[in-house]
Amino acid sequence: MSLLIKNGRVVDAKNKQDGVFDILVEGAKISKIAKNIVSKDDNVFDAKGMLVVPGLIDLHVHLREPGYEYKETILSGSQAAARGGFTSICCMPNTNPVIDNQGVVDFVFAESKKAGLVNVFPVGAITKGLKGEDLADIADMKESGVVALSDDGYEVASAALLRMAMEYASMFDLPIIAHCEDKELSSGGVMNEGYMSTVLGLKGIPRVAEITMVSRDIELARFTGTKLHIAHVSCKESVALIKKAKKEGVKVTSECCPHHFSLTEEAVEQYDTNTKVNPPLRTKEDVEAIKKGLKDGTIDCIATDHAPHSISEKDTEYDLAPFGIIGSETALGLVMTELVDKGILSIEQVVEKMALNPARVIGQDKGYLSEGGCADITIIDPKQEWVVEKDGFVSKSSNSPFIGKTLTGQVMATIVSGKIVFEKS
Ligand code: DOR
Ligand code: ZN
Repeated sequence: MSLLIKNGRVVDAKNKQDGVFDILVEGAKISKIAKNIVSKDDNVFDAKGMLVVPGLIDLHVHLREPGYEYKETILSGSQAAARGGFTSICCMPNTNPVIDNQGVVDFVFAESKKAGLVNVFPVGAITKGLKGEDLADIADMKESGVVALSDDGYEVASAALLRMAMEYASMFDLPIIAHCEDKELSSGGVMNEGYMSTVLGLKGIPRVAEITMVSRDIELARFTGTKLHIAHVSCKESVALIKKAKKEGVKVTSECCPHHFSLTEEAVEQYDTNTKVNPPLRTKEDVEAIKKGLKDGTIDCIATDHAPHSISEKDTEYDLAPFGIIGSETALGLVMTELVDKGILSIEQVVEKMALNPARVIGQDKGYLSEGGCADITIIDPKQEWVVEKDGFVSKSSNSPFIGKTLTGQVMATIVSGKIVFEKS
């Protein structure tokens, strides 16, 4: 099987390539990148006017299976990812049972293979049952193929236990993905703490709940020499702490989510529970700092924190609704609309933050387009406008704050190991 992608603007951050080329895919590999490739019996994709980039990689997705299949399954989450241009996704361990042992890791791989769409890389729990008490079966999970460790949704409250986890993680060359939240400080809060939360009569989550943990985790990473990846950065102080730590040589990387650079706490005003997310939407200054952090390289990756919840769970009082919003299908559109079209990131930087850097964080030989390299490719129409529709999601859930918003930038095709897994009709 071969596929010839004609006349697209090929942008690759690793090879510093940006120009109109054809790409010939044979089997699961890219066999040639050149101008005017002539080949007779190929399947041809006309990419004129489109961007052809390395397959996007999402470091932060909640697939909900096993345990919460009514919200999402490995199949439906993979379909949503493919539609969003992602060729690889990392799924967080807060399932039921938790991904804290080899059996569940093997299950996730088996189901994703059955789905046969995108690469699914499980993230193993740091502690058993995400309880923050005993370390999970890290060695076994590594053997089964986890790419990182995280108790996402929770911090590891005990610094001593996290230190031990970091020492183990280093032995197995696994990064720790840190959910930085001091639960004692954030307890009961449902939105950013400040003037808005007072006006709306909602209990706030103070920014210091994030900042203290970013600071603690950086110090532990410095002390243990472990690779630390800070998840969903939401505060300007966190950006500053990460910037400083990087300068000092700490092995720290970070990600931000599209909702944290597209929305502020003002979005909560209508009490729409689809604006309830953890960490919460913050202030204009935070959004500006995140954008600056993306631009100057402090924030390495853009990840979605795709967190599906059912309509009935979200259709309740703001205080009671679960935290989380879906993100797989709107991420690229938000990046193009809010960052590229507004002159904050170049396409090459987008490729860096959504493909090359995420691949590096999880140690996968992906995220770039080279002859002989893997044929995970995303094709984007950068000019096409579309409206986010409630009934338009492939995900099983529709808990998005972006419903009704017009986005510029449409994923036209997603190719995984040479196979088209999504094509815009
Ligand atoms: O908003 C969130 N939703 N934040 C998290 O940390 C967890 C996630 C979920 O699993 O729903
Ligand atoms: Zn999460």
